[in-house]
Order: sequence, then structure tokens, then C-alpha cells
Amino acid sequence: MCVTSASGIEMKDLLTPDYYRYPWAALETVKILPRGGVLVIWPDGQQLECHPLWLRENAVGPDGIDPRSKENGLDVTDMDMSTTIGSASVDAGALVVEFVPEDRRASFHPGWLRHVADELHRPFALLPEPKPWVVADLQEPPTHNGSSVLDDDRALTAWLHDLLEIGVARLTGLPCEREIVGLVGARIGALRDSNFGLTWHVSVDLDPNSTANTNSRLPAHSDLPTRETPPGFQLLHCLENDVTGGQSTMTDGLAVGQYLQTAEPDVFRWLTTLEWTFFNRDSNHDHRWTGPIIDKGDGRIPWTFRAFHPVRGFPAMASDALDDAYYSLRRFGDIANSDEFQIRYDLEPGDLIAFDNRRILHGREAFESREGIRQLRGTYLDTDEVYSRMRVLCRTLNMRPESLGFTHSKEAEDD
Ligand SMILES: [Fe+2]
Repeated sequence: MCVTSASGIEMKDLLTPDYYRYPWAALETVKILPRGGVLVIWPDGQQLECHPLWLRENAVGPDGIDPRSKENGLDVTDMDMSTTIGSASVDAGALVVEFVPEDRRASFHPGWLRHVADELHRPFALLPEPKPWVVADLQEPPTHNGSSVLDDDRALTAWLHDLLEIGVARLTGLPCEREIVGLVGARIGALRDSNFGLTWHVSVDLDPNSTANTNSRLPAHSDLPTRETPPGFQLLHCLENDVTGGQSTMTDGLAVGQYLQTAEPDVFRWLTTLEWTFFNRDSNHDHRWTGPIIDKGDGRIPWTFRAFHPVRGFPAMASDALDDAYYSLRRFGDIANSDEFQIRYDLEPGDLIAFDNRRILHGREAFESREGIRQLRGTYLDTDEVYSRMRVLCRTLNMRPESLGFTHSKEAEDD
């Protein structure tokens, strides 16, 4: 959009403190506030109060936002705490202010100010909202074409959209090669290493370092509850599977939590407050962390489910709470593994299942290992990597999650 200011400056070239291209949301008016800031107002009535020091450190240019790094170059120890707004006006829709006593003029893109007013700068603003599900809502993981996701950013965006909204999303038709899980993970971001390696196998081992590497049933669980921050997302790629049994399972922890909160509030309270110490040890490692089965965080981060009996070692609670703790564990297990909450599906060679390891409880049925081979290759990614890739894809493709229009059922039909 080409807008020329009263002073002849083309406002379309007005720099913003970040990498987004904002629509020109022209301001209607600006008022200087008695306590020193300004109130900007748009024609639709939206308003934003701007503190003078916040505006000053977000002014693009020397001792403000560096136009190359888009980062704040004004250290607080160099900040003039007496800074206030000497004058303020709207020029061709942009905010123009004069900082005093510095005698510095700065212009602010109204679209950038508007995104703050609309709270689009907040961490979850540009991400799909999680939709809890039970078996009545979802019988199979949302499914996408694997080759498309490897080559095409729109296909990658659609897959990540489902992964963030539903918590689980499957790719099909990928080559059955060992390096594929790393290539798919790298489409999202940096892989998360662990004592199992950057990528790792899941198969029946003579000397297993994890219950996953046996042919036993794995009930609904989350990986690495033994870490301060368990891995955010997990990718599992099926290379070979001709065994009898071994169906994969998924349960939405959010749905289990919501159910318990309403139907069994005592159980929910015990699961969210009584803590356990988890451990993961081998000859070279000794990982431990203490937390509740359902960690609600501090209200700013998504819930984290810590559930895996092979690595749940010790109660970290008063001994008279143990009866309640074991009862709540049993109820959690009964519900998470029930036909109402847990989906079962076949993992075919070439399939890759991705899921939110802190929200979705995954598992598998036991299988007969003497009759065939079941080989998976897996990797982890931190939640930040998935969030970042989704935001960048939406930025570069000029999309907003709610405008994508993707649903898991539609994608499944398209494939
Ligand atoms: Fe697992």
C-alpha cells in the first residue's frame, strides 16, 4: 500500500521492529496521556496505550530497534528515565511522536501497533487452538501425504496445523529408509537429542534399554517424564511391520483431564498435586525429575502429562497420601486406556506418526515377535521448534491458522 505522509515520506517503507508485513491499519487519532504516554485509537474503536519508554525502545534506528537484527539495542542502563512524549500526531495513518528531552522524532507503523492491540504478539496467538478429542470425535489420526510434506510448504503447514490442533497427525507413503524420520523432523526444526540418540530405533532387542524395545504391551504413556521438560513432540516412522498384533494407540490427555475435572474432581486434584519421582538410568546416565501426573504448569504453558510406569520410581509426597495417589493413578490408567478415550490403528511400513508427547498418551498392543519384524525409527523435537516453524510458515505463506480451513476429516478424504 502506497501512503504518502504530510511531509512527503512514503509510509509503505516505514520499518517495523520485526519480520512481519503488516496491513496498513491507519490510525484515526492519538491522545497524549497525563502520565506521559499516548493512547492511539483506530476507526473501529480499538485502542492501545503506549508507555513512552516502551515506544522509545521500539523506535527503529540508533539506540532503538536495529533494522538489521530487528532487536532492541537500547540497554536499560542507557535509558533516560525522564523520557516522555513532547508531541504526538497521526500522519497518513501512522503514529509520529517527539521524544523529550532527547528531541528525537520517530514514526510507528500502525499495523504493527494494531497487532499489539489485538494481542497477536502473544505466544499462542498465531497457533491453532488445541481441540480435545475422544473416540467419538476421532477414530483415526488425521492423515497427510508424506512426500508432499517433504517437498511442499503448504502441505507441511496443513500437517502441522492438525498436529497442533488434534495433537496427533500421520503421514503415509514415505520411503522405508532409516534417515527419513530425521529428514521429516528437519522440515520442522532442530531435532532434540537424548541418551537414546538424535534418532533411535524401536524394535525387539536382546538387551533392551527401554520397555519400548520389547514385544510387551505399552499402555497409554508419555516419553521421558524423567526430564525437567519432557520432549514436546515425537515422530515415529514405521520401516517394517509384519508381526501379529502391535496395534498403535493414542489418547488425548487433555480430554482425560477435562473428564476427570468434572466427573472425578478428587482424582483430578490428586493427579495434579501429588508428585512422583521418575528416573531413567543406564550405565552412563542417571536422569531424574519430580512432578505430578498432570502438570498444569503456571497457567502459561500447556499441560504436561507425566505417565509411564516403568520409569515412575518413588512417591514424593506424605505417606498418608499414597492411598489416594495410587487410586488416582489407577483411575487415570483405566480412563486413558478405555475404548471411549483411546483410538487404535495400524502403523504400516512408510507411515510416520507425529504427536505432542506432553499432551497425547501413546501406546501399543503386545505383539508376537517370533513371527515377523516390527522396526520403527523415532526422534524428538522441542515444542518451541514446532511452534516456530508453524509461525514462520504462516508468515511466509501469508496465512493465519483460522484462515487455513483445514480439518482432519477433509485432509483424510483428500489423501
Ligand atoms: Fe513411548
